[in-house]
Amino acid sequence: MNVLFVSAEVAPFAKTGGLGDVAGALPRYLGKNGHDVRVVVPMYQRVRTKDRQFEPVLGETVIDLGGTRVPFSVYSSKLPGTEVPVYFIHCPGLYDRPNIYTSDSDEHLRFCVLQHAALRLCQALQFAPDIVHANDWQTALLPLMLRTVYAWDRLFSRTRTVLTIHNIGHQGTFGAHVLPETGLAGAAGSFHQDHLREGRINFLLTGILYANVITTVSPTYAREIQTPEHGVGLDAFLRGRRDVLFGILNGIDEDEWSPERDQKIAVRYSVDTLEGKEENKRVLLRAGGLPYVDDVPLIGIVSRLVWQKGFDLCVDVLPGMLRHSRVQLVVLGTGEPKYEQFFGELARRFPKQVAYKRGFSEPLAHQIEAGADMFLMPSRYEPCGLNQLYSLRYGTVPIVHRTGGLADTVQLFNARTGTGNGVVFDHFNGEGLTFALKYALNLFGSGRGPDRARFQTVQRNAMSASHAWEERVGYYEALYRRIAPG
Ligand code: ADP
Ligand code: GLC
Repeated sequence: MNVLFVSAEVAPFAKTGGLGDVAGALPRYLGKNGHDVRVVVPMYQRVRTKDRQFEPVLGETVIDLGGTRVPFSVYSSKLPGTEVPVYFIHCPGLYDRPNIYTSDSDEHLRFCVLQHAALRLCQALQFAPDIVHANDWQTALLPLMLRTVYAWDRLFSRTRTVLTIHNIGHQGTFGAHVLPETGLAGAAGSFHQDHLREGRINFLLTGILYANVITTVSPTYAREIQTPEHGVGLDAFLRGRRDVLFGILNGIDEDEWSPERDQKIAVRYSVDTLEGKEENKRVLLRAGGLPYVDDVPLIGIVSRLVWQKGFDLCVDVLPGMLRHSRVQLVVLGTGEPKYEQFFGELARRFPKQVAYKRGFSEPLAHQIEAGADMFLMPSRYEPCGLNQLYSLRYGTVPIVHRTGGLADTVQLFNARTGTGNGVVFDHFNGEGLTFALKYALNLFGSGRGPDRARFQTVQRNAMSASHAWEERVGYYEALYRRIAPG
């Protein structure tokens, strides 16, 4: 099939979180299975590094969005190690900024241009997509665009649309005054009319209403977003489309994330050579300026430091735990200043126990996955979560809140039956997290003798399940086939 995959992030070119990982991996596996898949993403400032080469594909082209004339051109490259083309929409006026996402007044325009440019590119290349696969609010107007302004073009007559919701917490809600700049003013009647009267438009909702199928990134999250508690105002619309709403777990790109092959870690290891993991722990601690003590467990965190990720619980619980327990913590992340300050302060107060690196570092993220004994994700909500999958793969026992994709992938270890691959807590509050941390510390025990054997059982359980994309890509293919015209 011909698949056009449009996303605001694509690893390794532009990534802030899991969307980048998914957009860098799923197309690669679709490509491996013989589909002609092409990825479209903005040419952000950070994409154009000196070591990358880009081919010009489309010269300057102008789109007129309600009188706003935007010139763009298109360059291409490949997903590393593949023949899958990635098309970069070059429009310096919109994308030449330090960050992928902004709160600038033209944020809507940045992603409207991405979507129109993606379809204009198909026209220029005469690429007839069977599937246009949109991701999150930044590309959620594509289904309506295809049904309206591009409907005249026979190139798209067989095109069907998939919208994947990676995070319903971000919907792209703008004042109704942006309508002309969506290029969809002529289709104003297709937007949610109450919203329009109230003076706003919601990009994600528009995608939910017009996509042929909607997916999200875990079965539990697919159920959760149909409830008022987790639907962030869109639950009723999702219930209305439940027949075409599916939860498909994300996978791991094992070329990037596997302890046997990871080039970013000190020592490669497998389920049979867990001593190698211990060596990674030493290296990680040394790099973080922390002492290595073999019976002290090390907990890792790699995250965007935002409300979604549940760090409010850490603020309540971690200082007490660090005071009373022999435990160490290595944290990598950036985000809201209050959480950055909290972890910075924690590192100052507990200099032998806590190391905090403020920033975004792909190598350090791998080193933490490899070197930590356990990995903490107390997310308030989590559509899928990739870090717990990486943790399972690296034998780094995940400690998670039972929500979304975390609930689908982590099971509480039961010492009696020897089953389970991590630690899970049910109640999103200080007691819940305290329970989980105590459980985890107990599981680690002295780190020696029978305690070590028990902990290794959890690690082996974690490492034995496969979350590779190879096993997930078939679900997307089945869905594509289901909606493609016969
Ligand atoms: P989300 O997409 O909500 O941020 P996921 O768990 O799906 O959560 O994906 C997060 C991805 O971003 C992982 O690949 C993780 O390693 C990466 N990541 C997050 N913060 C950082 C950081 N500070 N440095 C390096 N990688 C990070
Ligand atoms: C979002 C979610 C995360 C998910 C990722 C990729 O950023 O917060 O849970 O894993 O998208 O689908």
